Amino acid sequence: MDDIIIKEVRNVDCDLVEKIVELEKRNLGEDASVNEWVIPVIIRYGKLIVAKRYRELTRSDNGINKSAITENDMEESIVNNSDDTEIIGVCEIIKSLREENTAFIHSFYIEKKYRNKGIGKKLMQNAINTLKDDNIKIIELTVDPANKTAINLYSKCGFERTGLRKNEYGRGVDRDLMILKL
Ligand SMILES: CC(C)(COP(=O)(O)OP(=O)(O)OC[C@H]1O[C@@H](n2cnc3c(N)ncnc32)[C@H](O)[C@@H]1OP(=O)(O)O)[C@@H](O)C(=O)NCCC(=O)NCCS
Repeated sequence: MDDIIIKEVRNVDCDLVEKIVELEKRNLGEDASVNEWVIPVIIRYGKLIVAKRYRELTRSDNGINKSAITENDMEESIVNNSDDTEIIGVCEIIKSLREENTAFIHSFYIEKKYRNKGIGKKLMQNAINTLKDDNIKIIELTVDPANKTAINLYSKCGFERTGLRKNEYGRGVDRDLMILKL
């Protein structure tokens, strides 16, 4: 899918925040943990990296030839959060104040109909490279031990399971801790 662009969101925008809250509810169900109070905090003090898909239909509706759409067009739509693009994947990151050069991936998902196309791997690779540029040396995340799909993806991206956090998100809600050393 060459009409996908991965980009860090740097500005708080009501429409975008609402879209992400809705997307998270749809894709994580009862595990969704962010609302309109949390996303702006992640944008301002952590990192929000999204996968966006350029809506070809909107363009062809306007009579614009797809082959004439350049990377710059996509960049512009993404920066301006224009209707020409839709968010199809989200990676939310916070930085540790306790451990130096350590970041934690708080949430990670791809919209259902776009899964199994390599977008998750692309989003994660981009997040890793962005954190590397920020001099982060350790990336941590936790995952449901039964979520083999996510565990496979994280392993493919170099994360290693280092332990189990018992009752991490409530009684009986254990999480595998996975770490990537950069
Ligand atoms: C986990 C998730 C992000 C994967 O995204 P994706 O875009 O489908 O993943 P990709 O297509 O990039 O696949 C990357 C790797 O993940 C693994 N993977 C993807 N789909 C898989 C499946 N159905 N079964 C097993 N492994 C799978 C594979 O190892 C794959 O690498 P490969 O294609 O080289 O074998 C996506 O399934 C998702 O959003 N799930 C729901 C939310 C969630 O569980 N998030 C993680 C919370 S910790």
